[in-house]
Amino acid sequence: MNICVIGTGYVGLVTGTCFADFGVTVECVDIDVKKIEMLKRGEIPIYEPGLKELVDKNVAEGRLTFTTDLTDSINRALVVFIAVGTPPQEDGSADLSHVKEVARTIAKNLNGYKVIVTKSTVPVGTGAIVEEIIRKECGAGHKFDVVSNPEFLREGSAIEDFMRPNRVVLGARSEQAVAIMKDLYSPLYLLETPFVITSVETSELIKYAANAFLATKISFINEVANLCEKVGADVSMVAKGMGLDHRVGAKFLHPGPGYGGSCFPKDTSAITKIAKAHGYTFRIVEAVIDVNARQMELMVEKIRKLAGSLNGIKIGALGIAFKPNTDDIRDSPAVYIIERLIAEGAIVKAYDPAGMDNAKQTLSKKVVYCKDAYEAAEGVDALVILTEWNQFRKLDLGRIKELLKSPKMADLRNVYEPASMKALGFEYVSVGR
Ligand code: UGA
Repeated sequence: MNICVIGTGYVGLVTGTCFADFGVTVECVDIDVKKIEMLKRGEIPIYEPGLKELVDKNVAEGRLTFTTDLTDSINRALVVFIAVGTPPQEDGSADLSHVKEVARTIAKNLNGYKVIVTKSTVPVGTGAIVEEIIRKECGAGHKFDVVSNPEFLREGSAIEDFMRPNRVVLGARSEQAVAIMKDLYSPLYLLETPFVITSVETSELIKYAANAFLATKISFINEVANLCEKVGADVSMVAKGMGLDHRVGAKFLHPGPGYGGSCFPKDTSAITKIAKAHGYTFRIVEAVIDVNARQMELMVEKIRKLAGSLNGIKIGALGIAFKPNTDDIRDSPAVYIIERLIAEGAIVKAYDPAGMDNAKQTLSKKVVYCKDAYEAAEGVDALVILTEWNQFRKLDLGRIKELLKSPKMADLRNVYEPASMKALGFEYVSVGR
């Protein structure tokens, strides 16, 4: 089977590469000439563990190619994936202009029956819009079906998530389209992956509801952590005690500086907009968004309290990416906190194993970038852990203590144990413990 994946961002590149590894012939298309040139040279524009090896392997075996020629790729493909960006607009709703543009191009190039799949996270009703655009442009000329197949990949473990998903969701209006999609995903049948086959609209909502629920868990445990601090309880044990109830589940109950990244902030905001557009106020998710914003602010307060003040104070910041194993700094709580510290007059020395190139382009020019955690700790009034990279979990704390001007640490990811930090002579604060 030939497929074409339009958009070589995070979702498109991982999807195309993994399908190629399933044995499908995949053409990944992008209008960004530079990106396609990079990919042709074997360079990967994003940081994702294992992706380069998988791209190289499938390119070498002849199943994966990169091109800017959309027309030819659409002509050759039975299934066309739309994996272009849906960035948030000023008002928080998703910008569908790229999706619509691609739909028009697909319509112009239909040369027989095709399945058009939305893989990007799109508002409920987008499948219907795509369908309408294509029908209008190509008339009754060719048969096609529109399918919603949301992705549930996590940055940093995207390949594993694609190859061993908890489920595959397919929203479609025709049995033929479902049969073709199932054929495409057939290697997952061996793993007994559950398939949820539903309507296009239901599938579109599943994606938003799943992300909004996960964000709710995080904001919920962050509030529990804040309460723990007030009553003298330990959030890690509260989370453990809660999570052992199978109905609650242990995952996504790690308190911290708030959720970030390219998905949760965008999708929580979008689902409230979708609800509003239909005359409904999605109160829980609105509260989740508020709590997340307050959480970041509370972290700034925590650092201020630890350091005594912020004006003229030197802070070492460990981590800029929104989570470990990614260079993605979009909506990262670390970025927000660093910017706030600088706005309050602090001097910030920062280190991140992968996110510094991106940070240099968008963060305040006042940030001083360091070569490792030890350089960031040297001579600062307090050290702050903002992202839980593995290398920050096993720091030589004796050396760190020597390097710090005063032995103060704000561990916003609860990486270390309060009792042992105290025993080592640190003035140590964390979240909810
Ligand atoms: C998230 C979802 O987990 C994926 O299932 C989904 O496909 C993806 O969004 C998407 O919509 O594309 P991702 O944004 O890569 O994936 O990252 P997560 O690992 O979910 O983390 C999101 C944020 O929540 C991070 O800032 C992380 O630090 C924070 N988090 C996560 C917590 O603060 N506490 C937790 O317990 C878990």
